[in-house]
Amino acid sequence: MKEALLIFLAYCIGSIPTAVWVSKYYFGIDIREYGSGNAGATNTFRVLGSKWGTLVMIIDVLKGLAAVKLALLLPYYVENDLALTNFQIALGMTAVLGHIFPLWADFKGGKGVATLFGLVIGISPWTALCCSGVFLLVLYLTRFVSLSSILASVAFPVFILVIFNVDNNAYRVFAIVVALLVILTHQKNISRLLRGSESKVPILKYRDR
Ligand code: G3P
Repeated sequence: MKEALLIFLAYCIGSIPTAVWVSKYYFGIDIREYGSGNAGATNTFRVLGSKWGTLVMIIDVLKGLAAVKLALLLPYYVENDLALTNFQIALGMTAVLGHIFPLWADFKGGKGVATLFGLVIGISPWTALCCSGVFLLVLYLTRFVSLSSILASVAFPVFILVIFNVDNNAYRVFAIVVALLVILTHQKNISRLLRGSESKVPILKYRDR
């Protein structure tokens, strides 16, 4: 019962539509009608500039981290490492689903990458660091945020299953699901990448008008 309440709370936290609210309350627009149409940090960078993009990114990462930390409210999980990790994965993934399908913004949210990153920071900081390395390397080489997100997410199960060889089946399945989920939420980006029409590192547009 307490678990169900925390899962619902995680969904509410993930549902905070940071990019939508920032664009609505500070600029009087709906970010989903500009740029890539995505309610995420990258599109906020692209449409509203780096200050607001950074703010959205930080809050979206914190949503995943906060959801994971909810598990610490129940003493049973604090005393049982395996159960703690598995419950944290459930809470974090619920927050990610909240981010993608937000209760507070017509169920039209972002692609989940920043919130997933917060989740991974919460359960496995070293893996988060390794995935950030992949993200930054691909971004440096290609200047495509979407491709960097996709490859960092695909690298995640490689780190978990092959390099760190994590001995937790739920975690291994979770890592594969993350890669598949990010590929799924980036389908439009993949099409644009294949057509050669994906935009590179965000440039300022709306704010400079
Ligand atoms: O995490 C989202 C990013 O990878 C792509 O965002 O706005 O370019 O579709 P966007």
